[in-house]
Amino acid sequence: MILFRMAPILIALAIMTLTQTEVGKCESYKDCRECHSDIFDLWKNSLHAKSYDNPTFRATFMTIKFGCGEEIAKDCLRCHAPMAYLADDFDPGSSAMAEGVSCTFCHSISSINHGPVDTYYNLDTSGVYYGPYRASGNAGHEVQYSPLFLKSELCAGCHEYVNDFGVSVLGTYEEWKASIYPENGVYCQNCHMPIMPELSIADNYEVKNFYVTAHEFKGGHSNINLAYAVNLETSVKKNGRKLEVEVNITNSESGHMLPTGIPNRKLILNVTLRSAYDSSEVSAIRKVYRKVLTDKYGTIIENIPDMFLSATSVYSDNRIGPKETRVEQFTFDVPKWISNYFIETTLNYEYSRQILAEENISIEMGKSVIHSGSIN
Ligand code: HEC
Ligand code: HEC
Ligand code: HEC
Ligand code: HEC
Ligand code: HEC
Repeated sequence: MILFRMAPILIALAIMTLTQTEVGKCESYKDCRECHSDIFDLWKNSLHAKSYDNPTFRATFMTIKFGCGEEIAKDCLRCHAPMAYLADDFDPGSSAMAEGVSCTFCHSISSINHGPVDTYYNLDTSGVYYGPYRASGNAGHEVQYSPLFLKSELCAGCHEYVNDFGVSVLGTYEEWKASIYPENGVYCQNCHMPIMPELSIADNYEVKNFYVTAHEFKGGHSNINLAYAVNLETSVKKNGRKLEVEVNITNSESGHMLPTGIPNRKLILNVTLRSAYDSSEVSAIRKVYRKVLTDKYGTIIENIPDMFLSATSVYSDNRIGPKETRVEQFTFDVPKWISNYFIETTLNYEYSRQILAEENISIEMGKSVIHSGSIN
């Protein structure tokens, strides 16, 4: 039993010592720009490039570092600054920290382990870069074809997190795996890394038949993605002075739950009955879709550090599954003084940012306005 428990630790140590000496020799991600400038410019704008160096992460990381100690805080870097984590370099100003989820990290992944999460990725730091193509390798660096680059398992080590109490905090990979997308051969990359035919894979080299894929990794922070992710339909039936409203929300394009990721992301549906005379609100219904986590006292957790560290159970989860259509029915009583009205439905994607003061971000995903004429 003891040996069984030790094994992962020994492997972890082996990887640590290997990388401690070798990572320093690795070309820095900045060198990739020299030849892969188009890809670099895309990546630079991604949340991967800013995964350490963004104010939201920094603020929560500091809270944990000073509140719970460095050992606990280090685990955050496993995904937010993986090169620093592997090199055991926790100097807040180091370049390994600043590079976040970098070119060098992803393209040094030689294989994965389905064991303890902290040793999920095996890196080859000899300066060979792994990728999706069978490139010739006359590039100034060695290349190695790896089918893993077209699979969701490459992303799973970071887009999945079960905390010490067994609560799934980030479940994007498992949500995808439980959907119809795997059997249809649709992986994370198909949606998050579309081909950009106008860009060049390497400057000053003639490389044929290899395409650049969008290294911006657009997700919930992109309005374009959000707008096409859902389909919103509203219909209204009149029944005396009652209006029976049916709203259909379809998660048509998102490969996982909507919303996915950190449980501070919410979808908010607002259905409003308005007077056609001056558009004023007569009555309104609001419904929230999210995963709600609670701590051991049963208190609902709203802040990100506690989601990772203190969540002991999933209190509720009414998010919309991939390809699922959620049907909601509401009834409005039309007051006597209203004769002309309309129904307005909006769906917003919301999350809060905790930097200094809490700030709420809300993005409209869909809207439908039904003019339903008059009632006597
Ligand atoms: C001196 C120019 C140069 C530099 C610097 C460079 N690359 Fe490349 N790279 C190329 C060229 C050219 C190709 C096209 C493949 C070929 O012909 O070998 C390529 C191909 C690749 C591939 C595709 C491999 C495959 O078969 O799928 C990856 C991944 C890659 N490079 C990653 C990197 C990373 C990461 C860095 C920075 C650490 C980097 N490269 C720095 C020139 C360069
Ligand atoms: C989060 C991991 C990740 C990061 C960070 C990353 N890549 Fe990639 N890269 C991939 C994956 C996955 C593919 C394969 C995409 C596909 O073909 O669908 C890829 C493909 C490539 C290719 C082949 C051509 C292409 O665009 O598909 C090159 C070259 C490359 N990356 C270079 C880079 C460079 C340079 C950087 C940093 C500026 C970088 N990558 C950052 C995961 C990553
Ligand atoms: C080393 C860990 C790591 C790997 C590997 C990784 N990611 Fe990420 N990813 C992150 C982190 C951390 C963030 C969030 C950064 C932040 O907001 O601070 C992120 C953010 C994202 C986002 C942006 C979400 C948004 O809110 O807009 C998308 C999309 C994404 N990743 C997709 C992928 C895909 C697809 C892959 C596999 C090809 C992948 N990631 C591999 C760590 C990783
Ligand atoms: C069928 C297309 C599709 C597939 C497959 C897919 N995604 Fe997404 N993803 C989307 C769309 C659309 C959004 C924006 C709406 C949303 O938040 O769900 C998104 C959002 C995200 C976000 C942002 C969540 C946030 O907090 O803002 C992350 C992270 C992400 N995806 C990662 C992944 C990973 C990792 C995989 C593979 C396991 C994957 N996605 C598979 C389409 C897809
Ligand atoms: C298993 C990988 C992993 C670990 C460990 C991890 N994160 Fe993250 N984190 C992510 C990913 C992936 C996202 C991207 C957003 C999403 O999926 O919703 C993210 C997003 C965030 C965000 C939201 C950023 C934004 O732009 O809104 C904050 C803040 C954050 N993480 C803080 C932390 C802290 C603090 C820790 C340590 C307790 C931590 N994370 C540990 C993977 C991880």
